[in-house]
Amino acid sequence: LYGDQRRNSDGVEFGCAAERTDLTQSMAKTQAPFTKAGPLGKGLEADGETHPVFSPIDGTTQVGTVVLASEAAAQQAVENAKKGFEAWSRRPVQDRAAALEKAADLLEANTGRLMQILSMEAGKCLTDGIAEIREAVDFCRYYANEARTHFGEGQLMPGPTGEENRYRYRGRGVFVCISPWNFPLAIYLGQISAALLAGNAVVAKPAEQTPLIAYETAKLLYEAGVPEDAFYMVPGEGDIGAALTSHPGIAGVAFTGSTETAWAINRTLAAKRGPIVPLVAETGGINAMLVDATALPEQVCDDVMMSAFRSAGQRCSALRLLYVQDDVADHLLKMLSGAAKELALGDPRLPSTDIGPVIDEEARDGIVSHIDDMKGSQTLRFAGETPAGALANGYWVAPHIIELDHAGALTREVFGPVLHLVRYKAREIDTVLDQIASTGYGLTLGVHSRIDATVKKVVDRLSVGNVYVNRNTIGAVVGTQPFGGSGLSGTGPKAGGPAYLTRFALEQVVSINT
Ligand code: NAD
Ligand code: ALA
Repeated sequence: LYGDQRRNSDGVEFGCAAERTDLTQSMAKTQAPFTKAGPLGKGLEADGETHPVFSPIDGTTQVGTVVLASEAAAQQAVENAKKGFEAWSRRPVQDRAAALEKAADLLEANTGRLMQILSMEAGKCLTDGIAEIREAVDFCRYYANEARTHFGEGQLMPGPTGEENRYRYRGRGVFVCISPWNFPLAIYLGQISAALLAGNAVVAKPAEQTPLIAYETAKLLYEAGVPEDAFYMVPGEGDIGAALTSHPGIAGVAFTGSTETAWAINRTLAAKRGPIVPLVAETGGINAMLVDATALPEQVCDDVMMSAFRSAGQRCSALRLLYVQDDVADHLLKMLSGAAKELALGDPRLPSTDIGPVIDEEARDGIVSHIDDMKGSQTLRFAGETPAGALANGYWVAPHIIELDHAGALTREVFGPVLHLVRYKAREIDTVLDQIASTGYGLTLGVHSRIDATVKKVVDRLSVGNVYVNRNTIGAVVGTQPFGGSGLSGTGPKAGGPAYLTRFALEQVVSINT
């Protein structure tokens, strides 16, 4: 519980057999193909190409169909949303909060269906999918509470007698929300709920790989009371994102995805004439963890497995570069390889599965090609095995551990289950910190050490958004670990934190001579 009486969603207790059975039974009620997704919103026509959507689990099961939006439809959505904004922004904040809280309840009530789609469309394992549904619920409730607390009548500011000065937040207009496939529910809805609660209308473009979960979620938003002219969804690829961000009538952009795309959006926004609008960008990282000789090896081993391989390494927060003090490196490598060997790859809907497929063929080929390149110049310490039989045609990448001869050998974010390890000597810690800083990213950082001075030095020295000490580096909890980075990792403010909503809002001061 927080001061505001809000609490995080309960999710599913996987240790309890009855809860596991309930979940799998309710998932089984939803069978593929799930749905035909398409553009949504008042007055919007489905006018683009139609494509089948296949599951990454086997590459062949059709999980649904998507009708893409054309660029003209995307632009139309912005125009229509401008009209919807007028009424939505004037609604009392209590109404907007009630709609998003209702959406949270509907998400919880539809957990089985959403989980099935997350597994089949995005390859999510049960624990990851349930955590994602919880996060989506938490975003709605947390931001609803924030809006209720700060977006009402506003705050009276101190001033001279005879004058009333009121500071308040209000919606800016039409916010464009562009999201990635790796959190196709939580990040998608996190952006949308914040923008709506701040009083904006929204045009959302989900990732091209995951239109079905986005479509199902959109329908729940309407069912919860979000008007069809205040929220539009336009499925499509990057060109649709570009069409939205280049529209002169938008009031802001919330983007989560790669640094490359954030640069592209920045360029688009800078190139057009018209209002100067805010960009909230949350991007990637070359996330590091430091392990010194005082760390507890068993705990390090668990935390590294979780941080590097959970969600098949497809988390922006995932650990990419593990620095280990040379005195303990051989011992730890042995433990890590042993633990990685025990990870089960397979159908993500089975409770026994630890790692599902990566999102698509392009992602698999890119990660495998990185591994092949590394094998030529660096030392392969562990390579797992991919599933055979009925799943052989799915998009699998087994966990790999590669020892680098120097940290600079890893030059980019590799978005998959590949852990890179570098040894360092105790006296080289400053060099290690310089190397981490020199990547320019600043998303997550792990430190495993029992020496307070070392922890303090690492934490103080690096401008990293989320620092985790003696624990894993993933799964930030809404309202507890507000999440987001700096530098090449994004602009802030942190999602799930107290500053997030304000970036979607216009600040206004009304001064009245009484
Ligand atoms: P991506 O940048 O390829 O795509 C993200 C979204 O941007 C998609 O919807 C895509 O269609 C759209 N897009 C592509 N080109 C565009 C353009 N020119 N204009 C507007 N929109 C465009 O990223 P991805 O592969 O979907 O996601 C993986 C990346 O996201 C990784 O780098 C990961 O680290 C990052 N990520 C960051 C966070 C975070 O909170 N910091 C969270 C999740 C993922
Ligand atoms: N918020 C997600 C995590 O912390 C990306 O893993």
